[in-house]
Amino acid sequence: MSPQVNENMRPTARGVRIDPARLRARLDDLGEVSPIPGGGSCRLALTDEDRAGRDVVRSWMVDLGLRVQVDAIGNIFGTWECAPGTPVMTGSHIDTVRTGGRYDGNYGVLAGLEVIETLMTAGLTPSRPLSVAVFTNEEGARFQPDMLGSLAYVGGVSIEAALDTLAIDGARLGDELSRIGYNGSAPVPGPVPHAFIELHIEQGPLLEAEGVTIGAVDGVQGISWQEVTITGQSNHAGTTPMHLRRDPAFVAGSIVVFLRELAAEMGGNQVCTVGKIDLSPNLVNVVPAVAKITLDVRNTDEELLLGAERRISEFLDDIALREAVTIQSRRLARFEPVVFDPEVVDLVATIAGDHGHSVKRMPSGAGHDAQMLARVCPSAMIFVPSHLGISHNAAEHTDDVDLVAGANVLLDSMWELAQREPSGVRP
Ligand code: GLV
Ligand code: MN
Ligand code: MN
Repeated sequence: MSPQVNENMRPTARGVRIDPARLRARLDDLGEVSPIPGGGSCRLALTDEDRAGRDVVRSWMVDLGLRVQVDAIGNIFGTWECAPGTPVMTGSHIDTVRTGGRYDGNYGVLAGLEVIETLMTAGLTPSRPLSVAVFTNEEGARFQPDMLGSLAYVGGVSIEAALDTLAIDGARLGDELSRIGYNGSAPVPGPVPHAFIELHIEQGPLLEAEGVTIGAVDGVQGISWQEVTITGQSNHAGTTPMHLRRDPAFVAGSIVVFLRELAAEMGGNQVCTVGKIDLSPNLVNVVPAVAKITLDVRNTDEELLLGAERRISEFLDDIALREAVTIQSRRLARFEPVVFDPEVVDLVATIAGDHGHSVKRMPSGAGHDAQMLARVCPSAMIFVPSHLGISHNAAEHTDDVDLVAGANVLLDSMWELAQREPSGVRP
């Protein structure tokens, strides 16, 4: 379709649309890097599998003629330097959880490339550079905290501390970056973009259930992660009377139950998860010596999240006393709820409406790199439906028609943000 010219004689991207087959082909090609049964991928951050995914995306950036830069925390940026000024940035991540789907993160990165290729092909040049970011270790499955690459990019953690982060397998982040060849030279913290907008699957059930195509994401709920280590007395399972046990497995189970009950009692947006339980020595006939569990606690309201953390801490003190175990808690991540820039959220909602889509303003339940970029520049996100709300699972699925709708909203949003003067957007 040929580009239109508006009343100011400024070329407009409206009417130009992304190529669905090209987007689908890249999603499938990246999905086939380290595939797992059921159609997903496993690319834990900074593993050989992550390197393979990075190499593929970087080669696509090079093929498009983008300026490719890698920074000191391994974030990759592909920038179309088509105009002067700071870029409008999009992007996401391509690392996955161990049971990753094909869309979480990948969609945002590849839709960004698709937006740029679409504009290039149409002969349309935005008023500012456009940049696509691939942020390191968004998932936080291997290294905590999550969103570490974008956090470092905005100066939320020093590069030294970030590089010294240890993986769940004991590896040092900086060493892994060097090993896979992504210890780049671009500075961290990095330059502040003009604006940031991230396209992502919802990873929850709401859009599909309500028959809505586009989520205009107005914020991200707060995240509290901790690792809890319970130490008791290892002993013989057959000979140790129940009343003499100091059993970390029982305490771990009690914490799981307490979290479920706490979330039910608090209601609203409160969610609590125990995603990891390690028992040692983990044998059928031994009362364990140690249990290590992780707690993931989230709320859109900081006060309520603080309250949940307090209740959990009291419960841990109480059960440690009752069961004669010691409990140590280590903070893995803590991010307050984030409110996105209202003007960018409005822009997404308006463009989605102009495209004829139903729109829902909504917070994100998952963490995203956009919440870090929101600390330094006007930022927001676009969501598309996730089938049955399933994510962090190989069965993750979004219909092509929704993937295409989201990418086209991204296209026009980036175009419009590039036309705006800095005074037209916050901060
Ligand atoms: C990141 O995927 C998260 O856990 O929200
Ligand atoms: Mn993601
Ligand atoms: Mn994820």
